[in-house]
Amino acid sequence: MSGRATTWPSEGDPVTDVSTSSETTSAEAEVESSSYDAAQRRSRQIEADLARDAGRYRMLTGDRPTGRLHIGHYFGSLANRVRLQDLGVDSWILVADYQVITDREGVGPIRERVLSLLVDYLAVGIDPARSTIFTHSAVPALNQLMLPFLSLVTDSELRRNPTVKSELAASQRPMSGLMLTYPVHQAADILFCKANVVPVGKDQLPHLEQTRVVARRFDEVYGRARAEESVFPQPDALLSEAPNILGTDGQKMSKSRGNTIEIGMTADATAKIIKRAVTDSDRNITYDPAGRPEVANLLLLASLCTGRTPQEWADEIGDGGAGRLKAVVTEAVNSTFAPIRARRAELEADQGHLLEVLAAGNARANEVADATLDEVRRAMGMAYDLG
Ligand code: TRP
Repeated sequence: MSGRATTWPSEGDPVTDVSTSSETTSAEAEVESSSYDAAQRRSRQIEADLARDAGRYRMLTGDRPTGRLHIGHYFGSLANRVRLQDLGVDSWILVADYQVITDREGVGPIRERVLSLLVDYLAVGIDPARSTIFTHSAVPALNQLMLPFLSLVTDSELRRNPTVKSELAASQRPMSGLMLTYPVHQAADILFCKANVVPVGKDQLPHLEQTRVVARRFDEVYGRARAEESVFPQPDALLSEAPNILGTDGQKMSKSRGNTIEIGMTADATAKIIKRAVTDSDRNITYDPAGRPEVANLLLLASLCTGRTPQEWADEIGDGGAGRLKAVVTEAVNSTFAPIRARRAELEADQGHLLEVLAAGNARANEVADATLDEVRRAMGMAYDLG
């Protein structure tokens, strides 16, 4: 209708159409390194600009309420969100409750998990006066965007999304319609509020690329509500430079492996899990990430909590062995998280306050989503002005 050329992929193209491929590799491995490099360059530019001109940016990010957040989440993303919020970036944080059902059957104890996420957010310093916290399920207009957006993507694009492939493999379930299309739902998460920056890990880059494609095609296919401006911005990834913390067994930190230190754990439980952490038999503690990954990971954790480098900690511990190393890490983690845990306890005791925060965030998200859906209908010629 708009007469502009649309940038669809060519369905039969043997180079781009790999939808029949059954291999499932890790999403991280599949993100092309050239596009990763480009995203990283762009991300660094934005970081520099953010410090000067935070007011130009709206950030959206979110978490699935599938369990309790751990200190990997804290150092990998929560601390960064607080930093961005404090810089003055307009911050939106989504409790992605509908996304829970992409890779599992049923939602589990969802209310409890949503509230626990909220407690973690507030306890680490997300300030509801400056950050909008909301749930998918409370924002109908956000979800309605998925309908036109679905018309803008192809089956093969979705099937070759590396993140969908690896989540599908991990879920050990057949591909559901929602699993296949959840990157489009995630595009709605980002675009409904016209976020222009999205702090993500490398594994989420394919979704951001899909979001940019949706934004561009919407403009090409349906046009604009106002001639001078496309309805949706093309958001950029803000790639985390934070080091990746492993679990106490040296594997990826994940609830299902029982190797996590939760933000909300007690000091005793934290000590217990660190005591069980895997190390090696060399009593002399050195910082050698390639040769001694488990020991290096504990040193890194001490470093993140204290601001001293892993090397400094290794030098100080020296011949103290794994016992001394674990004592240092336990002390560092427990003292860093003590104030956060104290705030957690206060917040947990005041459910009324939590519900108010969520209600206010949901109301704000609805206002913005309704306005965006209005523009979308206008661009699509579906604003019939019925009065
Ligand atoms: N997919 C993200 C995760 O699994 C959560 C999420 C949902 C998200 N919607 C988002 C992240 C939008 C960034 C932007 O962790």
